[in-house]
Amino acid sequence: MSLEIDEHREYLSDQARVSAFRSAIEEVIKPDHVVLDLGCGTGILGLLACQAGAKRVYAIDQGGMIELARAIFVENGFQDRVRFIKDVSSRVELPEPVDVVLADQIGHFGFEAGLFEYFGDARRRFLKPDGVTIPRHLELYICPIEFEGMWKHVDFWTSAPAGFDFLPARSLAANTGYPVKFNPEHLLGAPEVAWSVDPSSCDGGSLSMRAQLNVTRPGTLHGIGGWFVAQLSPHVTMSNSPLVAQRINRRNVFFPLDRPISVQKDDLVFVSMYVLPTQVIVSWNVEVWRTDPHDPTHTKKTKLGQFSHSTLNGMLISREDLQRTKPTSIPTLNPWGQARLTVLTLCDGQRRLADIEQEVLRRHPKLFPSLTEAATFVAEVVTRYAR
Ligand SMILES: C[S@@+](CC[C@H](N)C(=O)[O-])C[C@H]1O[C@@H](n2cnc3c(N)ncnc32)[C@H](O)[C@@H]1O
Repeated sequence: MSLEIDEHREYLSDQARVSAFRSAIEEVIKPDHVVLDLGCGTGILGLLACQAGAKRVYAIDQGGMIELARAIFVENGFQDRVRFIKDVSSRVELPEPVDVVLADQIGHFGFEAGLFEYFGDARRRFLKPDGVTIPRHLELYICPIEFEGMWKHVDFWTSAPAGFDFLPARSLAANTGYPVKFNPEHLLGAPEVAWSVDPSSCDGGSLSMRAQLNVTRPGTLHGIGGWFVAQLSPHVTMSNSPLVAQRINRRNVFFPLDRPISVQKDDLVFVSMYVLPTQVIVSWNVEVWRTDPHDPTHTKKTKLGQFSHSTLNGMLISREDLQRTKPTSIPTLNPWGQARLTVLTLCDGQRRLADIEQEVLRRHPKLFPSLTEAATFVAEVVTRYAR
């Protein structure tokens, strides 16, 4: 069962998002422009570009949604101005350079849906020297957060659920970034810009920062929140910040602390963060300090807590997989690998698909009880690796 179509219903019903993209596209796109809609989904951004007068749109999507986008372009009478390409953008060649690259691969915190990687590649290979991307700039914000309900996602594992000790899971839970929607009352202080970047000029390398966050009201610090403000065009921004009026319908990210800390106004939260965008790894180190209010020199400080977390420590990696990926291991194909190799070898430019399915069934009878199972396996391989 797939909920993909419903995910796209949500994208389209987000009025703030659609109207921000519409305004930005109308501001940027000129009648002679060639546009790339990267990760087109239903094709909405490409449709808006056509409506704004774009001469031609290249619409790329790696998934089956592209078939729906084709039908939607026909329904709307724009089929003569669009070329569809079903593939991952980084594997595609375009017949001409483009003036504008459009995408909403921003994720919850700005980088985790692949925007930096795909825009970087698009700028290098597709964009004219004076071309622009939408979005053109991103600000990633962090903020001290009070949110007991979210912190309980970590503490849950100490509660002996179902009557068993699940303590080994707690460390994984504490090293996980949780998508969640913050309200202004969750904020313990003003947000600060952690990064201000052009997503197309990041080279895929790491990002690191250090910031001081000021606590502005008493409460309990449960973690650090993250969100983005995207500059779509010179006059249009789009954001999932809990503080903006035209907030889009997208969650933020909650990075928990190992234990909650009771804080007062004027306490200081020092955050250093390290991000590997392509691997979607985030490390967050947090120190919480209190200055003695009776000290006239403001130099007497007490450390209330210090925490070090990383999604690297929240990954579920089995010892079997670790063993297999050791540089010293000598890998051999398992039966499923051998079946895949069979399919790839049989795709020799001579055989029909039906013959390949029969041959796969004949060579791997233990894996496939019937031709239907063999055909499903072959389809999965050829849709990925064959032309
Ligand atoms: C967040 S949806 C956005 C869809 C549409 N652009 C919109 O604004 O409603 C992302 C879409 O991009 C596709 N996608 C993500 N990364 C891609 C890539 N590098 N190459 C091609 N398609 C990609 C996914 O399959 C998905 O359909």
